Amino acid sequence: MVLRQFIQKHVKWILPIFLFIFLLFFAWRRSVIMPVFLHCQETEIIKNKSLDVRKPTDKKEAELVILVWVYPFGDKFPLDICETAYGITGCKLTADRQLYNVADGVVIHHYDIMYNKNSLPQTPRPHYQRWVWFNLEPPLIIQNLHFLDNLFNLTMTFRQDSDVYIPYGRIEAVKEPQNITIPPKSKLVAWVVSKWYPGTPRIKYYEELKKYISVDIYGKEHLKLSRTDFYNTISRYKFYLAFENSIYKDYITEKIWSNAFGTWSVPVVLGTSRKNYERFIPGDAFIHVDDFPSAKELADFLLELDKDDERYRKYFNWRHRHKVTLNGGWASSYCKACRVLKQQTEYQVIPSVEKWFLGNSSF
Ligand SMILES: *[C@@H]1O[C@H](CO)[C@@H](O)[C@H](O)[C@H]1NC(C)=O
Ligand SMILES: *[C@@H]1O[C@H](CO)[C@@H](O)[C@H](O)[C@H]1NC(C)=O
Ligand SMILES: *[C@@H]1O[C@H](CO)[C@@H](O)[C@H](O)[C@H]1NC(C)=O
Repeated sequence: MVLRQFIQKHVKWILPIFLFIFLLFFAWRRSVIMPVFLHCQETEIIKNKSLDVRKPTDKKEAELVILVWVYPFGDKFPLDICETAYGITGCKLTADRQLYNVADGVVIHHYDIMYNKNSLPQTPRPHYQRWVWFNLEPPLIIQNLHFLDNLFNLTMTFRQDSDVYIPYGRIEAVKEPQNITIPPKSKLVAWVVSKWYPGTPRIKYYEELKKYISVDIYGKEHLKLSRTDFYNTISRYKFYLAFENSIYKDYITEKIWSNAFGTWSVPVVLGTSRKNYERFIPGDAFIHVDDFPSAKELADFLLELDKDDERYRKYFNWRHRHKVTLNGGWASSYCKACRVLKQQTEYQVIPSVEKWFLGNSSF
């Protein structure tokens, strides 16, 4: 009864007090819980700045030893060109596993270890040694990411939020506007495809598109095309289907960089969102399938451009002020890993590469 009287007496205060407490709690959550929570959700990476990862005996400018655990896909590459080719000093790349015990970094290419957990290093690591997970493939192609639980310290992928960012290509502004020459065009749409995964978005889209426009397909089981004829053949086409095998954040591959931009064929892209493409590529440099409600409308648009040279040429305007640079190959990637390991000396663990790679793919 006392309580009831109390409530009746102070009823006008109860609501404001509750509101006040709620607001306080909300503010506290945002400032204390949320950043920590978001941080873990977003990256699943634990960082700890207080630990120095250098070898205890190392002087500041000491050379880092980077162990190439496996040559990616068995492709050998020169190990001694970080300084001469890329200006990255103080890196000793080695493929000699005898040096495991002195290696500062071990770069492990996922595709080459993904069928056998025992193909990862088995011996205990020195406390300063960091493992780098190297992968340029989308989830569709790779397997057994759980092998990597609680082993790795850095990520090295095509995703821009990787510790070591390895894009398939990039566009840079040039200082002086440059004159351009568009190669002569006599054909319409080309597509070079090696892996025909039925049921993937790009195959479904093509099946629809081909009803309305003719597409010349090159590759296994299709028209033959040798490496040496590549440029001369594809540069004759007005459009190139730069269709990715996966729709995944930042996954923009040589299909656009070398096959389309490299041959001056205007890319028609299927892959991540237009917004995501535009983080890397000028919006007027490509046509996105999502720009059209259906494959038929895309086909109609390409046929229209085919008849309107002035409009077609607008897809080359960006080239006056930009240039395309392709990924420099394996050696450049490993040298870059070394450079990042030198710069980023904080303690870091990735409890689950799988969660990081599969869980955070909003784009
Ligand atoms: C961070 O590093 C310090 C120094 O080595 C260590 O004492 C501490 O436990 C570490 N914290 C975490 C969360 O790993
Ligand atoms: C570009 O073309 C213009 C006109 O033909 C010429 O005057 C100029 O020197 C050229 N610039 C370059 C960088 O070649
Ligand atoms: C690297 O990561 C592993 C496990 O993820 C951890 O045990 C080790 O302490 C980390 N080392 C450094 C130098 O960050």
